[in-house]
Amino acid sequence: MADADETAELAQPDPIVASEIHLHRTLGPFSLIMIGIGSIIGAGIFVIAGTAAAEHAGPAVLISFLIAGVGCFFAGLCYAEFASMIPESGSSYTYAYATMGRYMAWFIGWNMVLEYLVSAAGVAAGWSGYFVSLLHDFGINFPTTFANAPLEGTGFEHLHLTGDIMNLPAVVLIAGLSAFLIVGVRESAKFNGFMVLIKVGIVLLVILFGLPFVQSANLHPFIPPNQGQWGKFGISGILAASGMIFFAYIGFEAVSVAAQEAKNPRRDLPIGILGSLLICTVLYILMAIVLTGITNWRTLDVPDPVSFAVSKIATLKWLVTWIDVGAMVGLASVTFVSLYGQSRVFYSMARDGFLPPAFAAIHKRFHTPHIGTYITSAFAILLAAVFPFDVLAELVSVGTLLAFIAVCAGVLILRITAPRARRQFRIAYVWFVAPAGVLVCTGMMVSLFLSSPDTLSRLIIWTGIGVVIFAIYGYWHTTPSKWNVTNES
Ligand code: ALA
Repeated sequence: MADADETAELAQPDPIVASEIHLHRTLGPFSLIMIGIGSIIGAGIFVIAGTAAAEHAGPAVLISFLIAGVGCFFAGLCYAEFASMIPESGSSYTYAYATMGRYMAWFIGWNMVLEYLVSAAGVAAGWSGYFVSLLHDFGINFPTTFANAPLEGTGFEHLHLTGDIMNLPAVVLIAGLSAFLIVGVRESAKFNGFMVLIKVGIVLLVILFGLPFVQSANLHPFIPPNQGQWGKFGISGILAASGMIFFAYIGFEAVSVAAQEAKNPRRDLPIGILGSLLICTVLYILMAIVLTGITNWRTLDVPDPVSFAVSKIATLKWLVTWIDVGAMVGLASVTFVSLYGQSRVFYSMARDGFLPPAFAAIHKRFHTPHIGTYITSAFAILLAAVFPFDVLAELVSVGTLLAFIAVCAGVLILRITAPRARRQFRIAYVWFVAPAGVLVCTGMMVSLFLSSPDTLSRLIIWTGIGVVIFAIYGYWHTTPSKWNVTNES
């Protein structure tokens, strides 16, 4: 329930006035890099990488990591330029509004719900698997009917009931993390930093202890021959795997949603975006070498490929429980930053009138968008309770790729419409970088559609729901973008 002060806040007719109580500026470059890493390293490397190698690319999954990393680096440069010009917490949504008008802004903002809210729910659902298996290692058996989704299937069309009741650990995780987010961004950043240190520490342990056991025999043939079907090894397999691996890189852009909580956003957001992306790319490349080099890649299509691969080395068995802990912490921090990101994007969208003003209300004491956070958590809890990880993850990548494409295109549009506007971070060779970002991201999206045609139909259904919501609310309430960037800005 809102207290009297909060109710007064909500009674303000103008959503911008409703947020006169500002978010606190407490985040420096280190915290921003930690937010990026917090949001990047998770299910992509700990779950998806194994399937990508075993089913699509073999040891050449390394090339898939490079392709996805290069696409994200181009997009990351574009995010960095935008973040240094428009330090507002809506990220791609705000950039699209500033450059492409309100219809495109709503389209991108609506897809960002996939990028953050659905991602938080999906990764929390994946987290639950690691949690239950860790309890099992300690001799505690969590009842499976309360640890699994009641629905499963390869797509919405094929969903069926499993007989399980709900994914309770995922629900409790989201509720607990949301409570942290409401209490304050400084506390949240400290908690996130702690989780990042643990997961990066464990990733480094896997790399340091795993590299000496890499055998060249496991890496041959480096590109297994295609099996006569698109995406089953060969070059098309590498491309299919890069579309899947893209999920592992999602998250660096979450740094830009902290714009209104950063002490010096125009300088530090580019550092946070590119710094976290570069650190994770290096870690991923090394992890991919270890994963496919220490064991037979054909065996990696399991829910916990990293611990599985390491468990095959007799002298490294002690590391397995630590890897499970690292994966659990990693997935929790991705869930955490995704919930944070969604509440800030909703905050910006409400300030522009795309959503009701309640989403922009700031708690008087905690200075956080508490109502937006409650609503975000409620929906994430609902999704995580009933859908399995893979159904949710498929939607996340495609929504995020659309946002990346819009940001790369938006950077070019602003170079044309406002070439002399203040850009604290300015991309060199922008006429190559931005189109290359559009191209690589579009390529990964097409490869996702080719590997899983259902994804396209689901995206169309999602867009249809978005159009209806816009027609009912946003169309009637939007105010012009505050970010009319000109040469004088
Ligand atoms: N990059 C995030 C993950 O791999 C979404 O979990």
